[in-house]
Amino acid sequence: MLDSSLVERLIEAAIHAPSSHNTQPWKFEVRGDRVRLHADRTRALPVNDPDGRELVISCGCALMNLRAAAASEGFGTSVATTPDTQVDDALAEVSFSGKPDKALATLAKAIALRRTFRKRFAGRGVPDDIVKSLQAAAEDEGAWLLPLQSAETRNAAGALVVEGARLQWADPSWRRELARWMRPRHSGDGLTLPWLVAPLARIVVRTFDMGSSVGAKDRELAINSPLLAVLGTAGDGVADRLAAGQALERVLLAAASVGLQASYLNEPVQVALLRPKLADLCGHGGRPQCLLRLGYTEDDVPMAPRRPFTQVLVR
Ligand SMILES: Cc1cc2nc3c(=O)[nH]c(=O)nc-3n(C[C@H](O)[C@H](O)[C@H](O)COP(=O)(O)O)c2cc1C
Repeated sequence: MLDSSLVERLIEAAIHAPSSHNTQPWKFEVRGDRVRLHADRTRALPVNDPDGRELVISCGCALMNLRAAAASEGFGTSVATTPDTQVDDALAEVSFSGKPDKALATLAKAIALRRTFRKRFAGRGVPDDIVKSLQAAAEDEGAWLLPLQSAETRNAAGALVVEGARLQWADPSWRRELARWMRPRHSGDGLTLPWLVAPLARIVVRTFDMGSSVGAKDRELAINSPLLAVLGTAGDGVADRLAAGQALERVLLAAASVGLQASYLNEPVQVALLRPKLADLCGHGGRPQCLLRLGYTEDDVPMAPRRPFTQVLVR
């Protein structure tokens, strides 16, 4: 049996993972001396993420945090993926034995430091050796991280971001879904807004197509990011997506541990029509899963809210 205070620490670390729209679409079931990770599809985004790709990636991020936290507590982990997907949306089962992975134990320190940083980054570039270490972090989890370096590929990625924002915002059901997840901080989930402006902002997002201004801003952020990179996997099945999530969080933790933060320009991955175009731009083979910008930050952003771990823990 796993000690209950250890379980609490592991789940607490896991739920600090990033998730699409901060939906936190996960549940953790303690089964004797193992922990099962389930997808919580009641928290899905049917318009933005119709086949639950980002939902599984988000769960993969939580799984990475859990593995890193276990390593920092002195445990090795082994993960059996998709043991029972058909039955109860179980994605993975973690058992705890053997020697802890030192690299993961080190990364655990960055769990509390990582944030999605949507503002402009400091002008400083990301040194090549750090870029290589982030690529290695993705590869350790069976994924790839491809920097978009030339002005030509950045401009092409920027154009896809503009097109993606245009298509998303033009769809009233996409706007309604985004507005539904815009919440005051005390909700413990969603995209946080001060409680006074929350109702107004929701109405604005629901009502107005802001695709051209969002697209122009995101294009500018893409083109000028210190590091713009696509994270991808060979395939696009559940196991690939779970691997993508673990790789994404491993990259983000490795980045945060050297003072870098990231945010997402995912429009060209989220809009099905544009994903093959982003894949062509990468010329890598396989499937893009996230378009990320990374850089050094000049100020802090507060941690996004989380639901208490008791809400996601099934004993
Ligand atoms: C798979 C995935 C996709 C995401 N896509 C976007 C996105 O398109 N735009 C964005 O601003 N943030 C995106 N995010 C970031 C989440 O909104 C963020 O993780 C969440 O609000 C919690 O905040 P935190 O990362 O600072 O803890 C994404 C996160 C994940 C894991």
